[in-house]
Amino acid sequence: MKLFAKEETVLNTDTANLPQHVAIIMDGNGRWAQQQGKLRTFGHKAGVDAVRASVSFARRHNIPALTLFAFSSENWKRPEEEVSVLMELFKLVLNSEVKKLHKNNVRLKVIGDLSAFDPSLVERIRKAENLTANNTALCLNIAANYGGRWDIVETTKRLQTQIDEGSLQLSDISETTFHQQTAFAHVPELDLLIRTGGEQRISNFLLWQCAYSELYFTDTLWPDFNEQTFSKAIESFQQRQRRFGKIAEQVQC
Ligand code: IPE
Ligand code: IPE
Ligand code: MG
Repeated sequence: MKLFAKEETVLNTDTANLPQHVAIIMDGNGRWAQQQGKLRTFGHKAGVDAVRASVSFARRHNIPALTLFAFSSENWKRPEEEVSVLMELFKLVLNSEVKKLHKNNVRLKVIGDLSAFDPSLVERIRKAENLTANNTALCLNIAANYGGRWDIVETTKRLQTQIDEGSLQLSDISETTFHQQTAFAHVPELDLLIRTGGEQRISNFLLWQCAYSELYFTDTLWPDFNEQTFSKAIESFQQRQRRFGKIAEQVQC
């Protein structure tokens, strides 16, 4: 199936042992542009093609959930000009891609504190989410004004509200009930977290969710990320033994 990408890479490893949920910290746009003597914002624009390639790859390989870190709760600290280009780009991409996502049976969700965005953008986001709500091939989460700590604090507040309303007891709170109230309760556990751009840190991304995720760091700068680099990350994931606290002999088939 052709989605967005010009080239299509087919995984040459086991297609049975695929991660059910992949998240990507799309880092390195600024450096990619600066290496070419261009403005940082040129890198953000170029990064859109890598987003398309990643969505296409996940869709074609039946990975049920893909979460992309587009804008962190800390990214507001960047120069005003860069923040406003990022917001404009977000609107443009939303306008140009939603129909294609819908046609390809992709559900779109934007996750983060949307109260900071301008109301017209929030309206477009809600419309896109409603349009694609029943799509089943891939759930694409865009983390925007998202922070892992924000997610944990919001979850705590939701649980407190339920206690206040009498629908929940303090003794009902467990890892399971907590998880069910987080912003990512609608997708499978996070199996693989990829970060491009060479840094080896989480930068306040999916803190609760990455407890047992496999981590994959690559020096590839985000605009250079494509189906081949995505497939390398998947192949690395497939070679790992996930023990979840057990010993090797217990998890070998
Ligand atoms: C990631 O690329 C995109 C966003 C954070 C929005 P950067 O803009 O952080 O690029 P570098 O890390 O400065 O190269
Ligand atoms: C993380 O990248 C956020 C996104 C990719 C959206 P940053 O570039 O903001 O991370 P730090 O500041 O280097 O940790
Ligand atoms: Mg960065």
